[in-house]
Amino acid sequence: MRFKSLCFKEDRQITNLTLGGQFSLPGTSISIKRLGYGAMQLAGPGVWGPPKDPDTALAVLREAVAAGIDHIDTSDFYGPHVTNQIIRQALHPYPPELVIVTKLGARRPADRSWQRANSAEDLTAGVHDNLRNLGLDVLDVVNYRFLGTRHGLEEGSIAEPVAVLADLQRQGLIRHIGLSNVTAVQVAEAQAITDIVCVQNNYNLAHRDDDTLIETLAGQGIAYVPFFPLGGFSPLQSSILSTVAERVGATTMQVALAWLLHRSPNILLIPGTSSLAHLRENMSAGELTLTPETLAELDGIAAMASKAQH
Ligand SMILES: NC(=O)c1ccc[n+]([C@@H]2O[C@H](COP(=O)([O-])OP(=O)(O)OC[C@H]3O[C@@H](n4cnc5c(N)ncnc54)[C@H](OP(=O)(O)O)[C@@H]3O)[C@@H](O)[C@H]2O)c1
Repeated sequence: MRFKSLCFKEDRQITNLTLGGQFSLPGTSISIKRLGYGAMQLAGPGVWGPPKDPDTALAVLREAVAAGIDHIDTSDFYGPHVTNQIIRQALHPYPPELVIVTKLGARRPADRSWQRANSAEDLTAGVHDNLRNLGLDVLDVVNYRFLGTRHGLEEGSIAEPVAVLADLQRQGLIRHIGLSNVTAVQVAEAQAITDIVCVQNNYNLAHRDDDTLIETLAGQGIAYVPFFPLGGFSPLQSSILSTVAERVGATTMQVALAWLLHRSPNILLIPGTSSLAHLRENMSAGELTLTPETLAELDGIAAMASKAQH
């Protein structure tokens, strides 16, 4: 029987999913499923304002958690504040196993742009905003999201904001600290200040700048959580991906997620969706096994993407 008919029922709730198995965040008592959910798509267009379909947004969150997802990625700069408020409305009081990971380091002024917000004042206010909007007394994991002067990774010290988060951790407002949009140098700089449990960077089948960083973090037991696992604002498209998906009886997005789960055991997934059918499709990807030959074939996508860029 083909994969799709085995476990992907887009028109009804699915049960008994493994969600990629468990991963323990280093030095913590937190063990979560490798397949989680990213809440950014629940805000309105341009990650601004309320969702186009509020009832479906609530249903997506409730079904994700009912199906066993215990890791939700969010931020107060989605909306702003909107996704945190929807998470609270949908799921509060939270099940004890649910880990909500939020991020600080940016703000959204009225012109809808993304501006750096990394002073001690910004970060402290950001922690209190997240606590209030999520209805929590303490945040499980806070990622410091570095926003450089341009899109993408950029070197530059992150010591000051990470030290502020470490101080907020000592005050009992944050349990664990992670990083986002950072280089290997910045990870090492932060680790000299505090323990880092996860790193969230742009990575997927076609965008593999972090191959080496993933290995380094795996060696330290640190989670690597790709953002844009499906390509983000322009979902992945590739003839290789389509051919493989057709052959294994899955969708292209399921293959893209399964490839990430096979790529390294420290990779955790937070695919974003505002659709129940896509949520079901994505959650089923944890059941898809890819052969070494298929994985090698999929590795060709990054080479083609990089050739197309040059
Ligand atoms: N740290 C950072 O700087 C950063 C940056 C960006 C994102 N993030 C986090 O990472 C999470 C994931 O990133 P993302 O949501 O931007 O991108 P993504 O997961 O790569 O892709 C989301 C896009 O793919 C579509 N999609 C999802 N499942 C699909 C499926 N099965 N078939 C077809 N299309 C599908 C979604 O549309 P539909 O809604 O129609 O399904 C949406 O347009 C976010 O939700 C957020 O929590 C972090």
